[in-house]
Amino acid sequence: MNGKRILLIVGGGIAAMKVPQLIRLLRAEGAAVTPVLTQAGAQFTTAMTLSVLAGEAAHDSLWDIEAEAEIGHIQLSRNADLVVVVPATADLLAKMAHGIADDLASTLLLATDKRVLVAPAMNVRMWHHPATQRNLRTLRDDGILFVGPEDGDMACGEYGTGRMSEPEAILRAIREALAPQPLKLLPEAQIRPGTLSGRHVIVTSGPTHEPIDPVRYIANRSSGAQGAAIAAALRDMGARVSFVTGPAEVSPPDGVDVIRVQTAGQMHEAVEAALPADAAVMAAAVADWRVTNSSATKMKKDGSGRPPSLEMTENPDILAWISQPGDRRPRLVVGFAAETNDVVAHATDKRLRKGCDWIVANDVSEGTGIMGGTENAVTVITEDGPEEWPRMAKDAVARKLAQKIGEALG
Ligand code: C5P
Repeated sequence: MNGKRILLIVGGGIAAMKVPQLIRLLRAEGAAVTPVLTQAGAQFTTAMTLSVLAGEAAHDSLWDIEAEAEIGHIQLSRNADLVVVVPATADLLAKMAHGIADDLASTLLLATDKRVLVAPAMNVRMWHHPATQRNLRTLRDDGILFVGPEDGDMACGEYGTGRMSEPEAILRAIREALAPQPLKLLPEAQIRPGTLSGRHVIVTSGPTHEPIDPVRYIANRSSGAQGAAIAAALRDMGARVSFVTGPAEVSPPDGVDVIRVQTAGQMHEAVEAALPADAAVMAAAVADWRVTNSSATKMKKDGSGRPPSLEMTENPDILAWISQPGDRRPRLVVGFAAETNDVVAHATDKRLRKGCDWIVANDVSEGTGIMGGTENAVTVITEDGPEEWPRMAKDAVARKLAQKIGEALG
């Protein structure tokens, strides 16, 4: 964190007493801290305490003429690398959600274009109140990052969700939030950015094309939508993604390493070249067979009325290959199974046959609209058995899967 500047906004809650410790931890990592107190925050800790620990003036008023002359309030947020709100009270979160700017803290929060991380702290019933929950959804959609709250005993004598995370956990979240982000976060609650930072994940996607001659090929209806969404979700969680894609309809997401291939053979080579990886997600609809008597020139009707016969051979099974035990094997291998009947039974069998850790199975029979569509209904089969997910957008499946991968890699 050397040289990074954190604008630390301190709201009015008993958890503010943990702020001095957080400032100490941040300073020990080389970060510069500019404290800003709300009026309520100043009831729980003092500008003097925070100034001494931060080694620079704490700010608490929008109307401080001297401070404004020296460094305007917009400048305060412009100078920061990250804005952290700790504790983020229900009131401060409500102001943020509604764009209210009636004191220095809320004005800075509205004026900033930097990433904002909040550490909520409040009474359990305030946390669960529909108004707070509505505000949280809005803030998540706005890309605000969260750390906590935790479950536990509260200063008010109750028990439940609303305890602010400990300074060490907030420090970790700050470190993650400061890590370079290739793109802005998807506006979704499931994404916990940074969980996969430093990890490398290979994602295969799309169909493959197996040539018959220079203008004809064997293909399938895969659009590549699910694979692209998974790559984007993994990227948003901080992973480095090698995206090996066949000729898909859907464009690859930004911020991933794109390796374009045509055939299963090329996909196999590209996956091998991308190793080592922490995880592999094989979402491609790889052609099972390729034509062995493909022609270097365009095939012509020969006037006999007899169609040419194509000879085929089986393609390498990339999923089975990468799942083989050995140094090369990623820690987590996820396969897909598109089935048209007895989905769970076939997919459970496929998981064992291919040796992968999880199979994401879906029913692609006609009428489901899944293949080439925008929604998916999957069952994830792990060593613990099948886990049925409700039908949802492919984006949402991707985020849920990325989250699960983040948890598995720990
Ligand atoms: O056997 P099936 O094609 O149904 O298996 C599907 C799973 O195996 C998918 O994860 C797919 O990406 C992968 N696969 C592969 N190489 C093949 C065939 C399938 O990686 N040649």
